[in-house]
Amino acid sequence: MKGLILSGGKGTRLYPLTYTRAKQLIPVANKPVLFRVIEAIRDAGIDEIGIVIGDTGPEIRQAVGDGAQFGVAVTYIPQEAPLGLAHAVKISREFLGDDRFVMFLGDNVLQGGISPLIADFAHHDDWNSQIVLTAVEHPEQYGVAQLNAEGRIARLIEKPKDPPSNLALVGIYMFDHHIFEATDEIAPSFRGELEITDAIQWLVDHGYSVYPHIHRGWWIDTGRPDDMLTANSLVLEELTPAVAGYVDRDSEVDTRVTIEQGAEIINSVVRGPAIIGRNTRIVNSYVGPFTSIYHDVLIENSEIERSIVLEHSAIRDIPARIQDSLIGRHAAVDISALRPRAIKMQLGDHSHLELL
Ligand code: DAU
Repeated sequence: MKGLILSGGKGTRLYPLTYTRAKQLIPVANKPVLFRVIEAIRDAGIDEIGIVIGDTGPEIRQAVGDGAQFGVAVTYIPQEAPLGLAHAVKISREFLGDDRFVMFLGDNVLQGGISPLIADFAHHDDWNSQIVLTAVEHPEQYGVAQLNAEGRIARLIEKPKDPPSNLALVGIYMFDHHIFEATDEIAPSFRGELEITDAIQWLVDHGYSVYPHIHRGWWIDTGRPDDMLTANSLVLEELTPAVAGYVDRDSEVDTRVTIEQGAEIINSVVRGPAIIGRNTRIVNSYVGPFTSIYHDVLIENSEIERSIVLEHSAIRDIPARIQDSLIGRHAAVDISALRPRAIKMQLGDHSHLELL
């Protein structure tokens, strides 16, 4: 089997964090979501992976390289515009050939990996496709499946106004080569995209066997900032803690905290689950649960909780606790030492700031 990861598209919903950045490269518990996807596919025994890339392709190529760092071989498949998930499959035909494959959306995080799913599909040569469904609160934001009395797929609809069930299509799909017949036949949807949901419906309508798998663990499509914070919390909960950095005697560090190489915790309190990245310094500060501080960051005389801070940022002397925040790369938040004292910050375009 082969793997196909979709990392094209534009990350507009995560502005300003993805203003210049691929959303798939934003780290969750200090590891980019895309790296987690590659590792999940590799752990299922697949070592040939195609990655569909768009505008942010150069950055993705630079981060992932030829795949050797993950023990896989990566082929890049440029997509001229985000014309839909089924369009991405269509343009990957040469890479995929007649092999069966798993397609994984590059911004999805799923509990428990995909190894059992892949094994299931590999053991059933007669299955043309397997899709993953899970119960969600707002099905209208996803592709939705309606099952019949036998638990087989009756109908699939993309972002229905009036959802027939609460079962959303998770961004993981398995196909054989018959999917190319479907992607050739379907027409663009109301949002102008070739929808994978319509392509799967085409398979069902033409007598191909599509099996649903109901996923019971958590699953996050990290499309929006709050989803990112939720994914971060869930992954942090499952991390095996390790302390490779330095903690001074005046600090108090919880057992569920990971401190990466070169990090320093000075006269501070860190409560887990949390992760402190390489060469980051936490000085006279409090880092609360569900927080990921990426590498080369400085947090000084401040308090932060349930947040993600990206690389090379600095937060100094902030009098109120920072909470539920996503702070981008090379960001600075501090207080002027001179009178009149003022909060000073550099915020990206489209930023949202709530001051007390
Ligand atoms: O997250 C699950 C949902 O993903 C499913 O329930 C929906 O049925 C499915 O259509 C999809 O919906 P989204 O609207 O959330 O997809 P989005 O446009 O966010 O794209 C998902 C990923 O695929 C993202 O990493 C960007 C990439 N992509 C997207 C398009 C449209 C591409 O690589 N090429 C594309 O043309």
